[in-house]
Amino acid sequence: MQTNVETQTRPETASARIARHASVLSAQLRSLGATLFPPMAKKTLRSFSSGEVARILGVSDGYLRQLSLDGLGPMPTILSGGRRAYTLAQINELRRYLAAARPREALHFLPTRRPGDKLQIIAVANFKGGSAKTTTSLYLSQYLALRGFRVLAIDLDPQASLSAMFGYQPEFDIGENQTLYGAIRYDDQRRPMREVILNTYFDGVSIVPGNLELMEFEHHTPRAMRDPNARGQNLFFRRVAAAISEVEDDYDIVVIDCPPQLGYLTLGALNAATSMLVTVHPQMVDVASMNQFLLMTSDLMSVVEEYGGRLDHDFIRYVITRHDPNDVPETQIVALLRSLFGEDVLRATAWKSTAIANAGLTKQSLYELERGSVGRAAYDRALESVDAVNAEIVQLINAVWGR
Ligand SMILES: Nc1ncnc2c1ncn2[C@@H]1O[C@H](COP(=O)(O)OP(=O)(O)OP(=O)(O)O)[C@@H](O)[C@H]1O
Ligand SMILES: [Mg+2]
Repeated sequence: MQTNVETQTRPETASARIARHASVLSAQLRSLGATLFPPMAKKTLRSFSSGEVARILGVSDGYLRQLSLDGLGPMPTILSGGRRAYTLAQINELRRYLAAARPREALHFLPTRRPGDKLQIIAVANFKGGSAKTTTSLYLSQYLALRGFRVLAIDLDPQASLSAMFGYQPEFDIGENQTLYGAIRYDDQRRPMREVILNTYFDGVSIVPGNLELMEFEHHTPRAMRDPNARGQNLFFRRVAAAISEVEDDYDIVVIDCPPQLGYLTLGALNAATSMLVTVHPQMVDVASMNQFLLMTSDLMSVVEEYGGRLDHDFIRYVITRHDPNDVPETQIVALLRSLFGEDVLRATAWKSTAIANAGLTKQSLYELERGSVGRAAYDRALESVDAVNAEIVQLINAVWGR
């Protein structure tokens, strides 16, 4: 009897309360997920109109039409009114066809790495939460794939927002040992990198998804560093690079979405990276926090360098994100960053746009939306700004490859 009374009156402990909140939230998310993304309904990508394909490939619509009439290259779906539509896989097939048919323009149609071009590994980092790391990684990965590059996206954030954007719900779709942790862990459960790579609905982008399991690396690394038996194994900061090198030949560009912390995972990513993008939301608090990030990163990098780590990035660039060009204080901060860092700040900035934010709510990018599904002017403006950012990054990559 007495215990009964006790359990009735005893206040809920903090941990019990948090656990209860987690369980109701999890149930709610599950049912929301079931409505928005029925478990069996895999995320798919829309098709592209022949006009869009012509623009993407830099050929005329008439030429594409002639190809399909002549039965050359992939056959588009014919929609009502005779409009032709291509899937992204067909666009990539067209690239291969055109590269073979017009060898002098092969590099334009199929810009994949040539012998001697080194794999590009781009880490998108900043420990300021919400500086648009994931959005930048998503748009960059998709832009690169639309241009014919073979992309591996790595979600290094235990929150796994990038995985969710690519249609993998971290808590339901990704099981044990299916994140990058599986390929970099210290024990005998370690798996080949190839086994943790998943295809996505976006032809040309593969992903190593994330979930909470990635935290294990932060917990196990200090122990592994003390363990004499672990000597001879790769040190923590080499493990991300080692995993990527297993699949090096399959990709042109790796994009790593880093978590908003400077832990062992981020350091591993920065060490693997051939270049780094630091996303900055141009507000004073964010810039102050970025300052801390830079100080800590340089301190930690010098420690890594003492241990023989390699940190010779081909380029480091600041990417201004969620930029409102009509906001005077923001403009001043952008000017300040440019005066301090010069050409290390990308010329183009990703404009703040409700079209981008809204698309994000349904786990989509503007590249996935049909033009016309949101206000045309807003869509075009936003897309133009992210395209300009991504085009500048491609220029930097091309420069590394001597193109
Ligand atoms: N250009 C933009 N215009 C409007 N909203 C944006 C833009 N870029 C990102 N956002 C929104 O800002 C929020 C934070 O973006 P995002 O998740 O990419 O940041 P993050 O740096 O990855 O965050 P975290 O540190 O939590 O990983 C998201 O809701 C996203 O939709
Ligand atoms: Mg993120």
